[in-house]
Amino acid sequence: MRKIEISTSVTVFSNVSELPVDDKILMGKAVDARKNAYAPYSKFNVGAALLLDNGEIVLGSNQENAAYPSGMCAERVAIWKAGSTFPGVKIKKLAITASSTIAKVDKPVGPCGACRQTLSEFEINQKSPFDVIFMGEVGEVVKTASLLSLLPFSFDSSYL
Ligand code: THU
Repeated sequence: MRKIEISTSVTVFSNVSELPVDDKILMGKAVDARKNAYAPYSKFNVGAALLLDNGEIVLGSNQENAAYPSGMCAERVAIWKAGSTFPGVKIKKLAITASSTIAKVDKPVGPCGACRQTLSEFEINQKSPFDVIFMGEVGEVVKTASLLSLLPFSFDSSYL
């Protein structure tokens, strides 16, 4: 038997204005994207902005549906848009933000498990990590240097 320790290092900024300027700009784009969320059921609006290696910024927002499971998270809307519009172009950064019309979202909102799984395949395929920066509407912002650091023991194509 052996024990291993898994640790993840993140940087926590006390608010968006503390972010390095390029991260702040990308988070601004995620805020713009959030305004296009279609979330009449959860009232929880999420925006995602991907910075690609070719300089393009690809946006996504959550898109819900009356048949609830048919809806989609902002991050996957963005990543699939990037994958289908700019196939093979590396991702440099992902910014995520969430707000709600019911309550103030004042803590960082990380990508859900299904989004982490989806995003991890892009990071593996491109053979280089990308930054993930996430926040609520206000308050602290979390930054990690790699998507896979948020998903230890992830499933990938090596098992197939
Ligand atoms: N949502 C996202 O867009 N991204 C996440 O990572 C978590 C959840 C959306 C899905 C749904 O439209 C709403 O937030 C409430 O779960």
